[in-house]
Amino acid sequence: MKTTTICFANNKGGSGKSTTCCNIGYELSKMGYKVLVLDGDMQMNLSLSLFGEDEVLQSAQNGNNIYTAITQGDDIEKYIKPTKYENLDAVLSSSLMSNIEFDLFSKWQREFILKNCLNNIKQSNKYDFILLDAPPTLGGWVMNMLCASDYLIIPVEASPWGLFGLANMFEFFATVNQINPEISLLGIAVTKVDTRKNYFKQTVDALQNTEGVHLFQNFVRTDSSIEWAQDASLPVAVYKPSARSAKEYKALTEEVVSLVNR
Ligand SMILES: Nc1ncnc2c1ncn2[C@@H]1O[C@H](COP(=O)(O)OP(=O)(O)OP(=O)(O)O)[C@@H](O)[C@H]1O
Ligand SMILES: [Mg+2]
Repeated sequence: MKTTTICFANNKGGSGKSTTCCNIGYELSKMGYKVLVLDGDMQMNLSLSLFGEDEVLQSAQNGNNIYTAITQGDDIEKYIKPTKYENLDAVLSSSLMSNIEFDLFSKWQREFILKNCLNNIKQSNKYDFILLDAPPTLGGWVMNMLCASDYLIIPVEASPWGLFGLANMFEFFATVNQINPEISLLGIAVTKVDTRKNYFKQTVDALQNTEGVHLFQNFVRTDSSIEWAQDASLPVAVYKPSARSAKEYKALTEEVVSLVNR
């Protein structure tokens, strides 16, 4: 099967990118797909959601991370770290990713550095899915992540400011589309939904009326198990299989699979 690469991006911070990337990645691996998740953010949240702090800091310090791969223009294979879960591997991040825009600036064909690093692993079709967790920015690095992707998923927080700035994301995506015509917007995933609050309905109505954009039917509601799971560096379905959000992420993952053209 051909590798499908999906990037989770939204310039709005805290919209659920890392949480969604981690939990969809885990659910896909549980469904039997071979999955690689890649942390592209200097905050290292995706790395920390799968590995303990010591291991993440060790990778950040010893060069076994995305920053070294990009700055050296290396094959990503060298930087892959298996997780403790079957079918799920990861590339960790480093706080040095704070320099990435500067480092990319002087590079030849700078939009395609990540794409080139992923080239061999994609050609080999070793993974069914590669999931990329983007930082909350819209610059050359996120451009790289989107130029290496087949699909974009935009996690949106169901809050008054969750929609603010989404127009910038769409505009950025339109620019990316000119450079990478292969990429399509798979959909918007609504996260951190509090169904007790009416505000959530307003977010959904607004998104439903956005032309040409698929809104995932499966929302993820606010659930404290997510935070406890992250505190324990575990996917929520491992931390507490009966958690509501674990079921919701499973349903969302099934919806993603049904939409992906494989
Ligand atoms: N369904 C949920 N229920 C409760 N808390 C959640 C849920 N989803 C995410 N969170 C919390 O919201 C915060 C932001 O989530 P997350 O880190 O996934 O967003 P992000 O978009 O990756 O943020 P950033 O833009 O900083 O990279 C985290 O503290 C996380 O624990
Ligand atoms: Mg994040």
